[in-house]
Amino acid sequence: MTLADALPAELAPSPNPRRVFLLGATGTIGRATAHALLRRGHEVVCFARPRAGVGGALTAADRGRLLDGATVRVGDVTDAASLARDGFRGGRFDALVSCLASRTGAPDDAWAIDHRAHVLALEAARRAGVSQVVLLSAICVQKPVLAFQQAKLAFEKVLLESGLRYSIVRPTAFFKSLSGQVERVRRGQPFLVFGNGTLTACKPISDDDLAAYLADCLDDRDRADRILPIGGPGDAITPLQQGERLFALLGRPARFRHVPVALLDAVVATLGSAGRVVPALARKAELARIGRYYATESMLVLDPASGRYNAAATPSTGSETLFDYYARLVAGEAGPERGDHAVF
Ligand SMILES: NC(=O)c1ccc[n+]([C@@H]2O[C@H](COP(=O)([O-])OP(=O)(O)OC[C@H]3O[C@@H](n4cnc5c(N)ncnc54)[C@H](OP(=O)(O)O)[C@@H]3O)[C@@H](O)[C@H]2O)c1
Repeated sequence: MTLADALPAELAPSPNPRRVFLLGATGTIGRATAHALLRRGHEVVCFARPRAGVGGALTAADRGRLLDGATVRVGDVTDAASLARDGFRGGRFDALVSCLASRTGAPDDAWAIDHRAHVLALEAARRAGVSQVVLLSAICVQKPVLAFQQAKLAFEKVLLESGLRYSIVRPTAFFKSLSGQVERVRRGQPFLVFGNGTLTACKPISDDDLAAYLADCLDDRDRADRILPIGGPGDAITPLQQGERLFALLGRPARFRHVPVALLDAVVATLGSAGRVVPALARKAELARIGRYYATESMLVLDPASGRYNAAATPSTGSETLFDYYARLVAGEAGPERGDHAVF
């Protein structure tokens, strides 16, 4: 049985199977999206770099297993010549689906990947006959403060103006980003929250639910030429509620450590000043800014008029909740995935 066969039965075949060029297939959402597309009967050609995965740890054999059923081509997504020669290879494609994203969020990497590589891929895709693009973006670009958000927005604009049919999907928080404390809590340590633990809220979405949503953008006319914020099922939840549920699942009394946001501000300010002298610290300063952003901004639809986040206005999809996932982690039925960085 392949992973594609293991996906839920509600992933029905597409009425119009297409030839899809998929970017970012070796990432968390990319691999789930590859399977969702395959499950619907699309032909999937993935474009990956030679050393893929977190820290470049994925071997060619791992990659083959992970993307079983898809074709994997290897090259450099930041190089127009490689995209044409190694990726599209002069062939015809119907759709471009991208789950490509900077793994670090550092400004140079974000502009190279979230913007420039996407611009190159879009040009190459258009030459290959692509008429439809599905882009995985992020809900946080609605309040763009960080370099990676600005890079994503800049490419969204290119896509909006491309004349191609597009679906720009802006999800809320992923499960992996909300599971980093499961191990420390299991070891008996307190759950860390910023402020009182209710400064932010989100509607977490599972990898498979988001992948299904992305794949369905190819067929759903209502998702065409739209920017689509999307969360998972159920109510919005705060970090405090995440901690409380985790302790309940472990059968232990809840214990929190409250970290003042002012501490993050001090780290950001110190690294920001030092970063003007030492370039390596400028990267760390950006990561600290990313951490501060997620400590204080909700991953929900932002009402531009009031400047407030609105859970009720944030659409939901799918069936798996974060608390279902926590239960599976606690039962040892799932393993937490950590990225190159743990803040987003
Ligand atoms: N985490 C969250 O809670 C959250 C919430 C909302 C939106 N998002 C957004 O969702 C997107 C995808 O997230 P994810 O967790 O699936 O990302 P991920 O696991 O980090 O995967 C990123 C993908 O991009 C590829 N990539 C990165 N740099 C590359 C390079 N230089 N050359 C070639 N390929 C490169 C990676 O390939 P390799 O395997 O070769 O590195 C990987 O396939 C991001 O844009 C993120 O901002 C995240």
